Amino acid sequence: MPQALTPDRAQFFQQLTQRFGTPLWVYDAQVIRDRASALKQFDVVRFAQKACSNTHVLRLMRSLGVKVDAVSRGEVLRALAAGYTVGQGDDAVHSDIVFTADLLDRETLRTVAEHRVPVNAGSIDMLGQLAAVSPGHPVWLRLNPGFGHGHSNKTNTGGEHSKHGIWHEQLPQALAAIRTHGLRLIGLHMHIGSGVDYGHLAQVCGAMVDLVRQVRDAGMDLSAISAGGGLSIPYKVGEDRIDPAHYFSLWDTARQQAQEVVGHALSLELEPGRYLVAESGVLLAEVRAIKQQGRQHFLMVDAGFNELMRPAMYGSFHAMDLIPADGSQRPARPTVVAGPLCESGDVFTQGDGGVVLTRDLPEAQVGDLLVIHDTGAYGASMSSNYNSRPLIAEVLVEGREARLIRRRQTVEELLALEDL
Ligand code: LLP
Repeated sequence: MPQALTPDRAQFFQQLTQRFGTPLWVYDAQVIRDRASALKQFDVVRFAQKACSNTHVLRLMRSLGVKVDAVSRGEVLRALAAGYTVGQGDDAVHSDIVFTADLLDRETLRTVAEHRVPVNAGSIDMLGQLAAVSPGHPVWLRLNPGFGHGHSNKTNTGGEHSKHGIWHEQLPQALAAIRTHGLRLIGLHMHIGSGVDYGHLAQVCGAMVDLVRQVRDAGMDLSAISAGGGLSIPYKVGEDRIDPAHYFSLWDTARQQAQEVVGHALSLELEPGRYLVAESGVLLAEVRAIKQQGRQHFLMVDAGFNELMRPAMYGSFHAMDLIPADGSQRPARPTVVAGPLCESGDVFTQGDGGVVLTRDLPEAQVGDLLVIHDTGAYGASMSSNYNSRPLIAEVLVEGREARLIRRRQTVEELLALEDL
C-alpha cells in the first residue's frame, strides 16, 4: 500500500530526482526491515531475490538475518558478492544460499557444484546431472502438488499446466534417484504461486504433510520443509494485508504434523520475494508530454514498460501520485498514464488483456513528477534494454540519507557489447 505522500516526502522525491535524474528507482530500507522483522517466527526466511536482486539490497537482507534463494548462475554470484556463504556438511540445511530451478544449464551446473550450493530440484533430470559432477550434493525437492494459484495465470506455479516442480506422483522416482545417485536430501519445498489464498493454504499444508509421509515410507529422512513464497501485499487501498503470525501458525501446524511423522524436529522455511520489498519501492518518472487523443487525456512520462513491466505483462495495478513541479493544487481528471516506448502496450494504467484504463490524477504539466508506488518487487529486476534504453539508477534510502546503489547504464555500455 502506498505510503502517504506528505509534502515533506514529495519534496524529498523532488530532491532525489534533481540529484540522480529520472526515471529512478527508490527503496526505503526501513520498510524492508519492518517486513523482515514481521516474519521472524520462521526458522529461515529466504529472500527470493528475483524480486529485487541489487547486491546492496541483498547486503541489507543479510544484515537482517534473511537468507537468499537464487534461480540462475547470476543470482548465485550476486548472493556471493553480497557476502552470503554456503553452509557445508550439517550446515547445508541452513545454507545461506539455495539454488531453485527446473533445469540446470551447463554453466550453472558447474557453478553450483563448485560452491556446493544446495539445489532445490524442480525436475528429476537435475538430480542425475548434479550427482555426476558433485557426489553427495545436498538437494531439496521442489514439488508440484497438482494445484496452484496466482494473481494471474502467469504467476500460477502449480497444477498440470505449470512447468514448475516435480509432479507429486513422481516423488517416489525422485527419491529413488536421490538414493541411486548418492545425493543428500535436505527437505521438501512447494511454491504454488504468487498471492496467498487461504482457501488453498490448508490444501497445500496437507499436501506437504502427505509428501513428508511418503519420504518416511520410502525409508528416507529429511531436515526441513519450505512453504515457498507467494505472500501478497495490498496494491490497492482496501485490499487485505497478510497477517504473518496467522500465516506462520498455519504452517507451524503442518510442520508439527510432519515432525510427528518423522519423529524429530524440522526446520520451517519461508521464501518470500514480494512481501519483503514491494512496498519499499517507488519508481519516479518525469512528465514529458500531455496529449488529448479524442476523449482520452494522456500523461506521458519518461519511464516505460522496459522499466516497470508489471502493468503490461499482467495488467497489474500500481497506485500513483503526481507531484506538481510548482507545488500548486490542481483538479483531478481521468488520465491515461503512458511511457515513451514505440509500442501501444506501453501504458501503466491498463487492466487484464491490455484494456486501457484511466486513473484520476491532478491535471499534469510537463516537468511534474509521477510516483508509481509499490514497485520494489519485480520492478528493476524485470527491466530490459528494449528500445535501446539503458537500465536506470537505483537508490536506497535510510531515513533522509540516499545512497546510489546502481548507477545509470550508458548507451555506450550497450554498444560496447557489440563492438567486436
Ligand atoms: N519461490 C519460488 C520458487 C518462486 O518461483 C517465486 C516467484 C518466489 C519464491 C517468490 O514469490 P513471491 O513471494 O514474490 O510471490 N513477476 C511476477 C511474480 C513472479 C513470481 C515468480 N516466482 C510479478 O511481478 O508479480
